[in-house]
Amino acid sequence: MGKMNSAMLLVRKRYFVIATLNIIMLRASYCKFPKPVLPAIATYFGTKCRYEEVNPHLIDDVLFVNKSLMAPPAPDCRAVHLVAVIRHGTRYPTVKNIKRMARLYELVKTEASGTEQWLHDIQSKWRMWYTDDMDGKLVEKGKNDHRHLAFRLAKSFPTLISEENFRRERMEFMTSSKHRCVDSIKAFQEGLHQHWDVRDVRFIHYVNDSLMRYFDHCQRFVEEVENNKTALKEVENFKSSVEMDEVRRRVANRLQIPHSQITTDLAEAAFFLCSYEFAIKSENSPWCNLLDKMDAEVLEYKNDLKQYWKRGYGHDINCKSSCYLFHDLFKRLDQASYDYRFGEMTKVVSIQVGHAETLLPLLSLMGFFKDEKPLKAENFSQQQSRKFCSSQIVPYAANLLFVLYECSEGLRLQFFLNEKPMTFPGINDLAPLYETVRNYYSGLLDGCDFKKECELPKVTLKKTEL
Ligand SMILES: *[C@@H]1O[C@H](CO)[C@@H](O)[C@H](O)[C@H]1NC(C)=O
Ligand SMILES: *[C@@H]1O[C@H](CO)[C@@H](O)[C@H](O)[C@H]1NC(C)=O
Ligand SMILES: *[C@@H]1O[C@H](CO)[C@@H](O)[C@H](O)[C@H]1NC(C)=O
Ligand SMILES: *[C@@H]1O[C@H](CO)[C@@H](O)[C@H](O)[C@H]1NC(C)=O
Repeated sequence: MGKMNSAMLLVRKRYFVIATLNIIMLRASYCKFPKPVLPAIATYFGTKCRYEEVNPHLIDDVLFVNKSLMAPPAPDCRAVHLVAVIRHGTRYPTVKNIKRMARLYELVKTEASGTEQWLHDIQSKWRMWYTDDMDGKLVEKGKNDHRHLAFRLAKSFPTLISEENFRRERMEFMTSSKHRCVDSIKAFQEGLHQHWDVRDVRFIHYVNDSLMRYFDHCQRFVEEVENNKTALKEVENFKSSVEMDEVRRRVANRLQIPHSQITTDLAEAAFFLCSYEFAIKSENSPWCNLLDKMDAEVLEYKNDLKQYWKRGYGHDINCKSSCYLFHDLFKRLDQASYDYRFGEMTKVVSIQVGHAETLLPLLSLMGFFKDEKPLKAENFSQQQSRKFCSSQIVPYAANLLFVLYECSEGLRLQFFLNEKPMTFPGINDLAPLYETVRNYYSGLLDGCDFKKECELPKVTLKKTEL
């Protein structure tokens, strides 16, 4: 309270007071949790990682923007357009994983023995509080992920994400129809609301699944990968690998439960329990003691295998299923470069909210994080320093930012992953000319036809269907 009062006394201008209060309120919504002791395995949770683990400075100040990272590529450059593709924020587990977690809890409660404090805590204090109706919904922390991200992006690109551009309808908001995505984009808009202190305007968003959940609409992907058990055989093989068996053995030892009772599914349930308790409640839960770093590396690899074969380079159609989003991105950038040459900018910002499954195929299509050798069940040890590491790429609220700058030599394009600049694969320049990027992707820009790529070959029709 003292901090707020002195801020109000010192600052006279009303809007400044409001802005300060809003910052304090935004911060307060985060600070009500005591600063947690991080679980030792917090950076291995893959798509269940907190955003703070890829940007640790946010742990101390969730609204901090590193100006030197987000600055224009040169002093003579000015940001003119932004397309942001963002994953939803922190969410509850899905029903399938809630059931697994409940099974592990029952087993530990009734069968485990030992004298450690953490085991005692699980058995006598912890309660199974996850219920089926939570099924993948956005949690309060997930709303904050997006409120805070909105605030930081507005601070990073003040000439683009501005109240004026918003009022002149130069900002567009699109989302997948899933409740966790719709709730995320609403929270993002709330963040802007608070940042600008606007009360008289109503934010709107468009639901667009053909854009943000294109993978559901790509028949060939659904048939050849999603509904095809053998497409993920590397994941299945890794479940029965020596490495996974050792994880199960170590978990069984810690619980003093027969090894045969700890299946891969249950070892993974412990991983989920640790990750969800941490991501949702900021707690270093007693469940985290069931696994050490070596175990976490193995379980992380299993998740990466799944993403690689289902959403990444494993199958060409995974990448190609994102052709529609790829073309939409360049259509927006092309329109911006046209507007810029011939008059006023009509749109300057697109905020598009989707899933890890939306971001990964697009990144793969564009050649990011491509390892020389494919990720295989038997190559765990050779892949220790792999590029395709989902903990780093797609934590909750992961974001791809494509920013077009007007510079003296022309338009330049810069790419940011999770608020850090990254070079395009094959272009040795942090902010190449937009033309250079277009040339680099010319093959995809001229082809990569969603309809053609996603159509099923006609021969699969059975006679009875004719
Ligand atoms: C900001 O980013 C630069 C460049 O990566 C880094 O050297 C610096 O330490 C960062 N500053 C803070 C306060 O994190
Ligand atoms: C979804 O977005 C695409 C590309 O911007 C657009 O062509 C299409 O009409 C949109 N669909 C809906 C249902 O709004
Ligand atoms: C399933 O996946 C395997 C391995 O990628 C592939 O050889 C097979 O053709 C796929 N089956 C179908 C029905 O697409
Ligand atoms: C994978 O590992 C196996 C066994 O360790 C090795 O023989 C093979 O060459 C490796 N393959 C790749 C693609 O790394």
